[in-house]
Amino acid sequence: MCGIVGYTGPRQASRILVDGLKRLEYRGYDSAGIAVQVDGATGAPPVVIKRTGKIAELRQAVPKDMAGHCGMGHTRWATHGGVTGENAHPHTDASGKVAIVHNGIIENYMALKGMLEKQGVPFRSETDSEVIAHLVALNYEGDLEAALKASLKHLKGTYGIVCVHADEPGRIVGARNGSPLVVGVGDGEMLLASDVTAMLAHTKRVVYLNDGEVVTMLPHEFRISDGDERRVDPRIDHIAWELEAIEKEGFSCYMEKEIFEQPDSIERAISGRMDHENGCAKLGGLNLSKKELHGIERVRVIAAGTSWHAGLVGCQLLESVARIPAAAELASELRYRNPVLEPASLYFAVSQSGETADTLYAMREVRRRGGTVLGICNVVGSTIARESEGGVYVHSGPEIAVASTKAFTSQLAAFYLLALEFARMHDMSHHEGQRFLAALREVPAAVRKTLAVRDHVQALAKKYCRHADFLFLGRGILFPIALEGALKLKEISYIHAEGYASGEIKHGPIALVSPETPSVFLVPGDHLREKTISNMKEIKARGGPVIALADEDDELVASIADDFIGLPKVDPRFQPFTMVVPLQLFAYFCALELGRDVDQPRNLAKSVTVE
Ligand code: F6R
Repeated sequence: MCGIVGYTGPRQASRILVDGLKRLEYRGYDSAGIAVQVDGATGAPPVVIKRTGKIAELRQAVPKDMAGHCGMGHTRWATHGGVTGENAHPHTDASGKVAIVHNGIIENYMALKGMLEKQGVPFRSETDSEVIAHLVALNYEGDLEAALKASLKHLKGTYGIVCVHADEPGRIVGARNGSPLVVGVGDGEMLLASDVTAMLAHTKRVVYLNDGEVVTMLPHEFRISDGDERRVDPRIDHIAWELEAIEKEGFSCYMEKEIFEQPDSIERAISGRMDHENGCAKLGGLNLSKKELHGIERVRVIAAGTSWHAGLVGCQLLESVARIPAAAELASELRYRNPVLEPASLYFAVSQSGETADTLYAMREVRRRGGTVLGICNVVGSTIARESEGGVYVHSGPEIAVASTKAFTSQLAAFYLLALEFARMHDMSHHEGQRFLAALREVPAAVRKTLAVRDHVQALAKKYCRHADFLFLGRGILFPIALEGALKLKEISYIHAEGYASGEIKHGPIALVSPETPSVFLVPGDHLREKTISNMKEIKARGGPVIALADEDDELVASIADDFIGLPKVDPRFQPFTMVVPLQLFAYFCALELGRDVDQPRNLAKSVTVE
């Protein structure tokens, strides 16, 4: 969702803010703005510049020599109020002395707005956020931190807030409740941002704020306190990501770069976690003893979107390989359906960002009922990672494109290791464990080979991208991959696509089949191959074009399909890795062909921090 960055220090604030917002643009890109304090002019309102559209529009509007060493910026993903200059952040109070930026949703803003309007406070925007600026102004008696804290008492909802006041040059105050904020500790300068990518160019020393905490910062110092006015001892963490990891490095967009990074990112997810000698996994972060793990009778996965698809694959593996009953739940459904927590269950919250509100709230609900929740996250220090009782970091590196690709295959890798861990505690033999690991070790190389289908997939995208509807069909462990292929195509090319279990099409969706509706078949190399071939024939018999993905030597499938994508042969249990890559490429090339903004598709934002 929205991105926030704040800066106080000796350097030109506007430049650092706009550059930081550019890094955060993947979080929201309908409008953006900055507010910068005027140097040496205590009492002069901060200068606010806002623009609708991309950060490039804002950059153009900000004078290159804009003075000022303290300020904040915001890139917006609209929730309350349309995409207009007035609704863009920062928002100010009537005097212009208070400026704020806000992520999250203030649920009681209508009541607060009504109350403020009765007192004669004029509103300029339709946002929920503007009330914060007016509340801070009303509560201000010479101390911005105290004014913000007094204002927070009136707010219901979620927030990451940053504010400045004209009478306190160089001071930034921030507060967090449900929307991430990270302090960046520099050398004689401080930053505050909604995620670390905005500050990576300036510092790697960070402090993650917890819900209920307020931070006050000046260039040389910062202080964190909690809701009870107690001072919090900050824990400084070191960000392991390199700056290059958030550059495009010669690729046309982040999604393309991230697709091609997968051999390396999968390698990172599994390396150091394979005990070849004993044929088992080494997952030190689970924080559960072997005895506790042995006592687990069922697994539940909580996730959203692509992470849910990874969970669906993971659950099939846990059942088939480890013989543990497992089910993946949509986080947004689980929280509100009064779930029964069965004994001896272990929950996994799966999230690339570690900030997805649906997943976070569902996980909290499970924990509140006494369930044990472990995390499978990419972003170190994210809220879900910190609130989990243990888990697995997938180490994909920063994922900037809105459409998730490399995080998905790394999440899969984590599930393969987990399935092995559980399997080796139950029925899987030492020898079978070693064979499983040998196949897993081959995955990065198989994915590298698979990437060679690039040009072929590009040609297919050219051929098919003008079709309005697609079906993606898979069975067994490839059914979630069909769902993922359809989601990728929808979100970045805006072509309607449905993912379906191939055996299910004759129960309804086959009515959609026509020469205008191509079907993408994922043909497994196992006992489900023949059934899938029958399903392909059913579609062909009704005039539907078929694109089939199968082992490269599968001549029968190649002869039936209109178009065939041959993939390196792997152990069928590991086909999710090789099958998903061409689907990612297909979505990418269709989007490119149709002139879509691949990294920043319409209406979407990375890291969905509102429900
Ligand atoms: C799709 C996509 C989303 C996310 C979902 C969960 O490409 O990126 O569906 O997978 O919003 O996000 P995380 O994994 O950050 O919890």
